[in-house]
Amino acid sequence: MRVGVLTGGSDCPGLNAMLRAIVRKGVQEYGDEFIGFRDGWRGVLRDETVPLDIPAVRGTLPRGGTILGSSRTDPFRADDGLDRMLGTLARHRVDALIVAGGTATLTAAARLADDHGVPLVGVPKTIDNDIPLTDYTVGFDTAVGVATETIDRLHTTAESHKRVLVVEVMGRSAGWIALHAGLAGGANCILIPERPFGVAQVCEWVESRFKATYAPIVVIADSALPDSGEIALHGVTPPPDGGPRDRLSGVGEWLGREIERRTGKEARTTVLGYIQRGGSPSPFDRWLATRFGLHAIDAVHQGDWGSMIALQGTRITRVRLAAATSTLKTVDPALYEEASVFFG
Ligand code: F6P
Repeated sequence: MRVGVLTGGSDCPGLNAMLRAIVRKGVQEYGDEFIGFRDGWRGVLRDETVPLDIPAVRGTLPRGGTILGSSRTDPFRADDGLDRMLGTLARHRVDALIVAGGTATLTAAARLADDHGVPLVGVPKTIDNDIPLTDYTVGFDTAVGVATETIDRLHTTAESHKRVLVVEVMGRSAGWIALHAGLAGGANCILIPERPFGVAQVCEWVESRFKATYAPIVVIADSALPDSGEIALHGVTPPPDGGPRDRLSGVGEWLGREIERRTGKEARTTVLGYIQRGGSPSPFDRWLATRFGLHAIDAVHQGDWGSMIALQGTRITRVRLAAATSTLKTVDPALYEEASVFFG
């Protein structure tokens, strides 16, 4: 078969491990040929390809990023997007497509498969871990590892200087990284977008921590927002519904300043940013991405179009792309409650 492959949306560690697995199994077991599309859907729109064969994937298992490149291009927003994509796929005589992406990339994939009959299979990847029907997405574990190591390091400097350290982590619409890294790193307070926070409560936790030791660490997701009282008080503008990047930009810095102002304690903010997305994948992400890749090429050969590879418990399964992209997987309130025993 001639199989097209693309990686779309934000990059994350583990994508190359996935590509390697797809190509190795496809070539060795099925005799497939691969066409790599450059920079996500953009490459399909513009007919830009990248060589994707065994030499191209050799040595890439531990490498972060994606050898195919990525972009946030939404193909259905482009002029004649559908016709251009179908044209490219026909010109390359593509029999099937494997699409690795987060919600936006996979939503376009679901539409292509279900509404336009394009034979494709999806693979969930995003450090945010916000795709439903899979326990984990490729990249999440690495991001949690980086954030946890950062929190460990911040504990010691916070102690030396008796400061509050605020750590802002990613998580565009869900607080998974904040919750997991906050628990793993022993944060004294975790703030996530699913639960608007009161600054007064955060300051109480900070002060009670100062009474016990010296080093309160506050972990905040970059999409977390103060509660409505705070918004009214400070004229903070909440993001329009669904607007991914239009949130309270710099919420970590803002919170650090507020804590300092209200408690009189020195506070510093560290914004982790793209460090969470770069570099080598963790062993778990290599394992997950490799298994997702192996199962994706199997799904192609079984003609399971419109499916998405998923991890449920320890089993790799398949779910419908349409179901996995119809909503976001946010943090269960019970999980947050469980973590709150360590606040303060
Ligand atoms: O989807 C992962 C993510 O890291 C989000 O948490 C973050 O909001 C976004 O990507 C930022 O990506 P970019 O700046 O590349 O658009």
